[in-house]
Amino acid sequence: MKSLKEIIDSYDPSAPLPQASTIPASWYIDERVYELELQNVFARSWQLVARVDQLLQPGSYVTTEIGGEPIVVVRGADKVLRGFFNVCRHHAAAVMTEPEGTANHLRCPYHGWTYSLEGELKGTPDFTGVCDFDRAANGLLSIETSVWENWVFGRTETSEQRLPPNDSPSLENFLGADLITEIRPLGLESLHWMERRHYSFDCNWKVFVDNYLDGGYHVPHLHKGLDSVLDYSNYMIENGEHFCLQWSPLVSEGAEAQTGAVRQGDRALYYWIYPNFMINWYQGAMDTNLVIPRGVDKTEVIFDFYFPDVSAAARERNQASIEVGQRIQDEDVAICKSVQRGLNSRAYNSGRLSVRREAGEHLFHRLLHADLLHTIS
Ligand code: FES
Ligand SMILES: [Fe+2]
Repeated sequence: MKSLKEIIDSYDPSAPLPQASTIPASWYIDERVYELELQNVFARSWQLVARVDQLLQPGSYVTTEIGGEPIVVVRGADKVLRGFFNVCRHHAAAVMTEPEGTANHLRCPYHGWTYSLEGELKGTPDFTGVCDFDRAANGLLSIETSVWENWVFGRTETSEQRLPPNDSPSLENFLGADLITEIRPLGLESLHWMERRHYSFDCNWKVFVDNYLDGGYHVPHLHKGLDSVLDYSNYMIENGEHFCLQWSPLVSEGAEAQTGAVRQGDRALYYWIYPNFMINWYQGAMDTNLVIPRGVDKTEVIFDFYFPDVSAAARERNQASIEVGQRIQDEDVAICKSVQRGLNSRAYNSGRLSVRREAGEHLFHRLLHADLLHTIS
């Protein structure tokens, strides 16, 4: 059996796109690679944890997970946003158990330990006589949080995982000035969240990301409706440091009716931000995708749908837009499963990349390789 180091080293990140191959199949099927990704990628990168609109009031909170770790994000009484591991310091139960809500304090349901909104341990029932118990050192463990546009991001990286300072960029530095400047004029603050949908895919999380990043390569074959509104030959791919923008002019002539009705404007923008967050923007509609590994061959993708008008009057139109998105996902489910099966085959190790279409995948694979190398020696 190959060592983990050999598996990681079998990808050559230095090959330019015309010479490059994909990461090897073993990266998609080996449990050791999966575990390493949780550690080196998900536990160290900025991850979407909530929407800003969920956390406006003091005491509002959202629970979520980052790389399998329970997380709670809370707006303090002092209005400061904070993130914590949602793990009680007594016997490790989740302190907050609802997906979101408002609270005066954070009380663990198991034995009633109580923490302030700022994470300090305040109440410990029946705990007199316990020696050398430092209450101040038993607050909830914090994580970093940072806000960009409509979203709150969190990072669970601990001090032991931290490499020299430049290696742990702030969210702003990680996103980079280019991306921040490109997104700003879209005016995302005027879009309102309407609905969340969960999709499950029988594949490794990277199969979903690769599929997203193939520069529209699969669109004419798998998504006839979407294909009818995109100008395929003018579909562009632009790589940033940690993101890829794919964009396409939209056409109305010959558009399939259902898709054409809700995919209007002059262009579609598809932003992928390493490793697992996507922003899909059309005039009058946006959705985001958060790709969550649930096992080496199981992936959950959370879609959040946003619209400029979420009143009852706009409901029908918004719903029609969501249904078009749903159809595209349904079309991708089967192909992702098929790819995962093929990756397990003796007949496949890696494949070549289209220079015209697959620069985004090339960037993804190189960034991933760099992250996996970090703690492998
Ligand atoms: S585990 Fe939270 S109070 Fe005991
Ligand atoms: Fe697709």
